[in-house]
Amino acid sequence: MYSDKVMEHFRNPRNVGEIEEASGVGEVGNAKCGDIMKMYLKINDDGIIEDVKFKTFGCGSAIASSSMATELIKGKSVEEAMLLSNKAVAAALDGLPPVKMHCSVLAEQAIKAALLDFSQKHNVHIDGLEYFDPDEDAHDHPEEEE
Ligand code: FES
Repeated sequence: MYSDKVMEHFRNPRNVGEIEEASGVGEVGNAKCGDIMKMYLKINDDGIIEDVKFKTFGCGSAIASSSMATELIKGKSVEEAMLLSNKAVAAALDGLPPVKMHCSVLAEQAIKAALLDFSQKHNVHIDGLEYFDPDEDAHDHPEEEE
């Protein structure tokens, strides 16, 4: 049911923890399953994500998704992180079962929520962020229509 990569990132998640005095922190949750994901970003003056950590209180797919998502945005620009989709996270994990796709949505939203926090605190504009609604439930995501 789960790919080797999902199992590997679930068993050995990368970048677990928190960053003190993070540039941006985002927390999102899924009302249906009750899972919560918190993402911390350390962003330098050039807009590069120098460090990223996460804490996920949730299912194995959510942990694997957050682990993979942190790997995908570490060292990238905020604009590149903004473009990371849940589908890209799931693809990097060699796929997730359809009923678990919302777990990867949580990872995408947690990053965007942290970017939003960063942009508001530092008065920085990030293209596309204006369309992000931090209160949107992951199950309401268009790709999660049942
Ligand atoms: Fe909800 Fe995985 S079951 S995040």
